[in-house]
Amino acid sequence: MLFTSLIRTIPHYPKQGIQFRDITTLLKDPIGFRIAIDELAKRYSDQKIEKVAGIEARGFIIGAALAYKLGVGFVPVRKPGKLPAETIGHDYALEYGSDRIEIHTDAISQGERILLVDDLIATGGTAEAAALLIQKLGGEIVECAFVIDLPDLGGTKRLAQNGLKSFSLCEFE
Ligand code: PRP
Ligand code: ADE
Repeated sequence: MLFTSLIRTIPHYPKQGIQFRDITTLLKDPIGFRIAIDELAKRYSDQKIEKVAGIEARGFIIGAALAYKLGVGFVPVRKPGKLPAETIGHDYALEYGSDRIEIHTDAISQGERILLVDDLIATGGTAEAAALLIQKLGGEIVECAFVIDLPDLGGTKRLAQNGLKSFSLCEFE
C-alpha cells in the first residue's frame, strides 16, 4: 500500500499500451525509499548474502543501497558495451523490445551467495538472463528481489520454472 501509493503510473510509455510503473516518485520520498531498502535488508540480513547483483539502470539504485545496508559488495549487470574488462553476455526479450546484458567474468566467485536485485519484474526475461550469467560464473542465487512485480506478465512464474525464488515489495495488476 505504502509502496504502490508512492509509485507513479505513466500510460503509454515508452510505447502505446504500456502502463509504465515509475519508481522515481518512490525514490524522491526519503521515508518511502528508506522503508523500501530497510524492508529488503530485513528479509536478507540473516541469509548470508555475499554479494548483491543489480541490473542496469534502475536495479543499480535499489541494489547498491541494499548492498551498502547489508554490508556486502555490489556487482553491476550492465547493458552491452559498458563494462570495461572481460565479460559474458546474454540476449533476451523485453515487454517492449529486446536487449542484452553483460557481467564481468571476475565479478562473482564459485559458490558465492548472490542476491539478484532489480526495480521491477515484468516478463522476467531480464532477471532470467542475469540469473543465467551469475550461475555461469558459479554464483548461487539466494533469491531475486524486486520493488515491483507485474504478475500478469508471468515473470516470477518464469523464474520459478528455472528454480529461482523471488520476492517483491508490491504488485500491480
Ligand atoms: C526494466 C526494468 C527491468 C526490466 C523488466 O528495465 O527495470 O530491468 O525492464 O522487464 P522484464 O521482466 O520483462 O525483463 P529497462 O530494460 O526498461 O531498463 P532501465 O532500467 O535502464 O530503464
Ligand atoms: N519494465 C518492463 N515493463 C515495465 C513497466 N510496465 N513499467 C516500468 N518498467 C518496466
